Amino acid sequence: MDDFFNGSVKRFGKGLSVSQDLPDNKFLTQIMNRGSCRKFNDQPVSDELLNALCAVALASPSKSDLQQRDIILIEEQELRDTIRPLLGASGWAAEAPAFLVFCGNNRRQRQLHALHGIPFSNDHFDPLFNAIGDAAIALATFVTAAESQGLGTCPISQIRNSPDQVNDLLNLPDYVFPFAALAVGWPVGDDNEISPRLSLRATVHCSRFDDSSTQPGIEEYDERRREMMPYKKQRHTDLFGKSGTYCWSEEKARHYSQSERADFGSYLKKKGFKLL
Ligand SMILES: Cc1cc2nc3c(=O)[nH]c(=O)nc-3n(C[C@H](O)[C@H](O)[C@H](O)COP(=O)(O)O)c2cc1C
Repeated sequence: MDDFFNGSVKRFGKGLSVSQDLPDNKFLTQIMNRGSCRKFNDQPVSDELLNALCAVALASPSKSDLQQRDIILIEEQELRDTIRPLLGASGWAAEAPAFLVFCGNNRRQRQLHALHGIPFSNDHFDPLFNAIGDAAIALATFVTAAESQGLGTCPISQIRNSPDQVNDLLNLPDYVFPFAALAVGWPVGDDNEISPRLSLRATVHCSRFDDSSTQPGIEEYDERRREMMPYKKQRHTDLFGKSGTYCWSEEKARHYSQSERADFGSYLKKKGFKLL
């Protein structure tokens, strides 16, 4: 069986095939078998390659061509050292050969209005939503492009743990905010772990949203994941005890039993965004 099929079995518990005649079957196979990477060797990532990856990331689709995302390459060691403790358990990311922050940017749009003396009539939630989408698309494209070159990557939402501090450290003006950081480097070892996903039955809908496969989809996934990638540690055992049947759904419920980044909305308000 080919690598795409094998990857889909690991990912979805079910073999999927794509025609060998597809123009870039290799690319689909690469994404099917991808995984985040949290261990890099010391080899640097060249500026040339990083620039090319930024360019590819920014070549991705952008809502109405508004181009509401920017990328900050964090090169200064001192700055990385200051950011590191703000990343909690993901502090290692600030030590990666390359460390980037993907930002949403609705400031430039407002500058266009000032430039042309044309009023900006979208001071509500939608511009923020679009900028978040643009930043996420650029991040995902960077990840895919980097992985196609053999690099390992890991997005880091913990860059939003201390938004005010990160904001000041990165000099972010009004209407510019961090979406996620990204650790990039050459992976240690050849094989990444393939993280199983919910089945397509539970996540891909035909014509209309259909919740009837949610519950069985979760149950099927819990069982498959328990077998393929059991959790090494249980979360919040102090609150919920040790479970004999620990699974993805319980892990995620335990995870979000605690409030995370509850201050991010008020940070965005301070940046000037209207959330309604
Ligand atoms: C927006 C975003 C933020 C993330 N933030 C973190 C993070 O702060 N720390 C971390 O270790 N992994 C982070 N990840 C990586 C996810 O944990 C990882 O993608 C997920 O566990 C699935 O694993 P996989 O990418 O290997 O398939 C993030 C991923 C995304 C897309």
